[in-house]
Amino acid sequence: MIKKAILPVAGLGTRFLPASKSIPKEMVTVVDRPAIEYVVREAVAAGIEQIILVTHSSKVSIENYFDRNFELETTLEQKKKFDLLKEITEILPPHISVVSVRQPQPLGLGHAVLCAKSVVGNNDFAVLLPDVLVKDTDTKNDLALMIERFSASQASQIMVEAVPDHLVDQYGIVDVEQSPAEGQSTVMQGIVEKPAVGTAPSNLSVVGRYVLPAKIMQLLEQTPKGAGNEIQLTDAIATLRKTDVVEAYRMKGRTFDCGSKIGYLKAVLHYGVGHPKLGAEFKALIQELEL
Ligand code: G1P
Repeated sequence: MIKKAILPVAGLGTRFLPASKSIPKEMVTVVDRPAIEYVVREAVAAGIEQIILVTHSSKVSIENYFDRNFELETTLEQKKKFDLLKEITEILPPHISVVSVRQPQPLGLGHAVLCAKSVVGNNDFAVLLPDVLVKDTDTKNDLALMIERFSASQASQIMVEAVPDHLVDQYGIVDVEQSPAEGQSTVMQGIVEKPAVGTAPSNLSVVGRYVLPAKIMQLLEQTPKGAGNEIQLTDAIATLRKTDVVEAYRMKGRTFDCGSKIGYLKAVLHYGVGHPKLGAEFKALIQELEL
């Protein structure tokens, strides 16, 4: 079973400036908690037990968020604010460990994943890109289904969704004979990073959720710089596909690109109205604004 997940969080978040000038973009709050918490919860809900952050010196607040804060806990305890105490100590279930490694240079997503090689060891693993929030409606989330499929077949799983044709140059795009139904996987014939509009093999874009075999680390070590002059995870997956079955998994849930300002605003709206405590009031507020 897949128990380890790599979350590359070293990116400087230029699409989210000025907010990301002095706080990590992953720590920007969506309703009442940082965006990264949603991604970590998604991994945990899929059965992940070790979160591996590939991080940067400017981003220690992410590690601090998932760590205990003795001073804060003591103060809340003394003030008998037990609800808040519970909230901050139960961000993650106790069996989850969070470890971090540094990406010393911004050499691309493939390089970021490679930085976690020694922590991953001989284990197969998942990768979750922190910009994208995946809102699942089913109790078993998309990542859990991908992990199940990987465990049963050993075929790597790459989560995809359809995007408008004019946006294909912003994503990894997969080549498949026939687009799979939502919640299903199909064998991939190819994958290409950010193809020019008009040259893409399909409109199925890589969402930022992957289930990969340990051996992809060796492929990443040999992957030359590609699109954007960066070492691309997409290129290593393309190499893997030549010898192993790699499948595109078409997601059922909905994505929010919190790396972009408009995607972030959409996420706040959707997670806001769905919030167990604030949802009703927030929805009423939106309706009021529409008048
Ligand atoms: C990365 C991946 C790309 C994927 C995208 C999803 O690109 O390289 O294949 O489609 O994430 O968000 P980036 O957004 O880091 O340029």
